[in-house]
Amino acid sequence: MYVFVTGGTGTIGSAVVAELLGHGHTVLALARSDGSAQAIKDAGAEPLRGGLGDLDILRAGAAQADGVISLAFGRDYSSAEALAASIAEESAAMSALGQELTGSGKPIVTVSGTPWVAGRTSTEADQVPTDGPVGERGRSQIALLELASRGVRASAVRMPRTVHNQGQGGFAGLLTDAARRTGVAGYPGDGAQRWPAVHALDAAVLFRLALESAPAGTAWHAVADEGDAVRDIATVIGRRLGLPVQSVPEETFGPFGAIFAMDQPSSSTYTREALSWEPTHPGLLADLENLQP
Ligand SMILES: NC(=O)c1ccc[n+]([C@@H]2O[C@H](COP(=O)([O-])OP(=O)(O)OC[C@H]3O[C@@H](n4cnc5c(N)ncnc54)[C@H](OP(=O)(O)O)[C@@H]3O)[C@@H](O)[C@H]2O)c1
Repeated sequence: MYVFVTGGTGTIGSAVVAELLGHGHTVLALARSDGSAQAIKDAGAEPLRGGLGDLDILRAGAAQADGVISLAFGRDYSSAEALAASIAEESAAMSALGQELTGSGKPIVTVSGTPWVAGRTSTEADQVPTDGPVGERGRSQIALLELASRGVRASAVRMPRTVHNQGQGGFAGLLTDAARRTGVAGYPGDGAQRWPAVHALDAAVLFRLALESAPAGTAWHAVADEGDAVRDIATVIGRRLGLPVQSVPEETFGPFGAIFAMDQPSSSTYTREALSWEPTHPGLLADLENLQP
């Protein structure tokens, strides 16, 4: 398949590009800078110059491809305004990609997050949240999946809170960033709340499987660890960085503070069975041992 990928230089996207190329697909990848274009070429893919806000370029990329994987998302999580701007940009981009594919029967795989359900482990059958700080993101995912009824083989691969590689990435990566910034490996509350996780190389396999075979309108969970206690995550970070480990106020983590405080385990039982996906790479706590002071 000739696949158009956005976010192909990110933690997850670079693994997805390598996974696609390793399984006989060819890749056209959005690149917003010379550095990103070079990284795409070095990976063995073809860059398409443009940013996520260049909707005509996105449409052109989708039109010439056999399928699309949408992963690009702004990296500025420092304020509620910055997060909202990234969500709005992604929402407009997905809408343009979806319109372009309408009636084509082509696949588009988008990235989403595992939902949280009070008092139990979430599953693929649960809906993503449509309120709170990332509610708009949930609504645009749902709108994309609804294109199933308009001739688009749209599916969503839901990411756990932490997608990691070499101990970096995701919510655990934000805990590490905060620890380096503040000198304390902190966690909100009592740290007993659990976050699910997956290695980026395992997540990449699931994106390929969804692209190749997921039925229209379906959602999948790229979950390897159902839930690691946040205190355990902070404990490894503190030991690796030589910093004290302790509870800190939610506000330490900016707009994500409230989400960081929640218990949100998630399962991938259905995904493993239906798509024959089996994670093989290290879990989060083992991978965090790769952190360097
Ligand atoms: N990592 C996780 O734990 C996790 C968990 C849940 C959900 N997700 C979601 O999964 C997706 C990928 O995550 P990631 O960790 O791989 O992200 P990442 O490492 O931050 O990479 C972001 C990617 O998006 C691109 N990008 C951002 N803004 C762009 C713009 N305006 N125009 C063009 N490209 C743009 C970046 O390009 P440059 O290289 O040029 O900057 C990069 O390729 C995101 O949607 C993220 O929200 C991730």
